[in-house]
Amino acid sequence: MAYNLLKGKRGIIFGALNELSIAWKVAERAVEEGAEILLTNTPVSIRLGTINQLAEQTGALVVPADATSVEDLQNLVDTALEHFGGKIDFVLHAVGMSPNVRKNIPYEDTNYQNMLKTIDISALSFHKLLQTLYQKDAMAEYGSVVSLSYIAAQRTVIGYNDMADAKALLESITRSFGAIYGKKCGVRVNTVSQSPTMTTAGQGIAGLGQWFEMADEISPLGNATADDCADYVVTLFSDLTRKVTMQNLYHDGGFSNMAICPSVIEAYGKGKISE
Ligand SMILES: NC(=O)c1ccc[n+]([C@@H]2O[C@H](COP(=O)([O-])OP(=O)(O)OC[C@H]3O[C@@H](n4cnc5c(N)ncnc54)[C@H](O)[C@@H]3O)[C@@H](O)[C@H]2O)c1
Repeated sequence: MAYNLLKGKRGIIFGALNELSIAWKVAERAVEEGAEILLTNTPVSIRLGTINQLAEQTGALVVPADATSVEDLQNLVDTALEHFGGKIDFVLHAVGMSPNVRKNIPYEDTNYQNMLKTIDISALSFHKLLQTLYQKDAMAEYGSVVSLSYIAAQRTVIGYNDMADAKALLESITRSFGAIYGKKCGVRVNTVSQSPTMTTAGQGIAGLGQWFEMADEISPLGNATADDCADYVVTLFSDLTRKVTMQNLYHDGGFSNMAICPSVIEAYGKGKISE
């Protein structure tokens, strides 16, 4: 159901690779709520993924940008300001990648070049984006910038590897930049800490299948899907959350506040859960 929450608003959406992507769902929901959007991803993801299909469906312009390149980000923001004919109301940063995860290199044997790349893509790119928007005074008052995080920033999830470090930095950048951006221009900056979700990036994490099932079992409301996430993010782009900033907002069916639950104890007792 649509509520016209984003009527007249204009925003940039990073990270729609294919229809499994969380960004894809956010793009669809934002347009359903009345927004005009611009889509962006790396040239290689645009070529290998299906973003052009989404662009057609949502009437969006696609502008290639590597989120680690300040030059690309500057071009992206200039293009968006010109395309929209005014300031930007919302931005979704749904960007993440770890070469160590991709190559199955365990955390204790990390390759530091890879780790720097993980941090650049998955965390520093958010600072680069915020700095570009800020320096160009590109966001409208009470504009909203949202990135996506994961509980591994707070609690150790073996296998999430150096992405955990990147997410911790991402959340810290959210607070640090959020304080400056809020004071100077009234712009909100938040992260949404999402349940495990079966996307291309999510499926790259070893053992996500069982992990996904266990999180679903432990969460009182079950895992939040990508569609649920899109609903939540749209509220953060809307005027209904104008005083929410510098937060890491859990969107995980309650998982982050659970320790143990009877069904998991029972499954362990029956030998369904081993090591
Ligand atoms: N899937 C999950 O379980 C889960 C849970 C919590 C948070 N998240 C986060 O959600 C975000 C979106 O991931 P997703 O799960 O939708 O997977 P996805 O694979 O669909 O999206 C990841 C996107 O990052 C983009 N990307 C990678 N390097 C980039 C770069 N240098 N510049 C610009 N874009 C780049 C990819 O092209 C891709 O579109 C990520 O930050 C991810 O860590 C995912």
